[in-house]
Amino acid sequence: MDNTHFVVTADGSRTLFQPEVGEHYHSKHGAHQESRHVFLGQGLQHYLAGNPSDTEVSILEVGFGTGLNFLLTADYVTAEKINLYYCGVEAFPLSKEVISQTGYEAYIEPELWESFLNSYEKALVGDHEVSAHATLAIAHQKILDFAPQRRFHVVYFDAFAAIHQPDMWTDEVLNHVANLLVTGGVFVTYAITGNLKRSMKALGFSIEKAPGAPGKREMLRATKL
Ligand SMILES: C[S@@+](CC[C@H](N)C(=O)[O-])C[C@H]1O[C@@H](n2cnc3c(N)ncnc32)[C@H](O)[C@@H]1O
Repeated sequence: MDNTHFVVTADGSRTLFQPEVGEHYHSKHGAHQESRHVFLGQGLQHYLAGNPSDTEVSILEVGFGTGLNFLLTADYVTAEKINLYYCGVEAFPLSKEVISQTGYEAYIEPELWESFLNSYEKALVGDHEVSAHATLAIAHQKILDFAPQRRFHVVYFDAFAAIHQPDMWTDEVLNHVANLLVTGGVFVTYAITGNLKRSMKALGFSIEKAPGAPGKREMLRATKL
């Protein structure tokens, strides 16, 4: 795992620090809280509230990393009996050994955790059923090389912050990701900046400022018009 190492965040959950990028995988104010609030709450649950009859939903995550966003989402859809197709794009997948040391089993059903660990390497090769309600694929690619046939209902945009990895927040990347959403689809990310709002508006999205996770006042939610 080179010099990447775990640190404990303010809510007691762990995240990874990536020294080459100079950035944590999650908020140091609380990895678990951030993931639950930004992606599951303001992303999937918001989308489902607006589409209450949907029993099938697809999610694209940009930056799969440790899989925390997937785990909380898969746990939720399994309890709600909603069928989920989840594709995480990840340019630098972590080893199964690192994934197994996150401690994220504390936040989900034990069977899901076991199944996730058994599925992780298979999902890196293709679609894999992690639970009766959740299918996972992890595309080992850079986001600009990811060109799937399908379109997604929700995008979890979880790139490293623009200050550390500006090439993930360019109009080229945002346009590429925007094209992978259905009309009415929802894009969420933990951050909000003037540039990001302008770019998403120009790409044909309606923009909302949602309350941020602990440590951030606001975050962006954008809906494709
Ligand atoms: C903030 S972390 C993601 C955290 C992750 N969602 C989690 O729950 O652990 C950003 C991720 O983006 C990945 N990444 C960096 N450049 C990328 C690229 N060009 N395409 C796809 N993923 C990339 C990194 O390897 C890292 O895993």
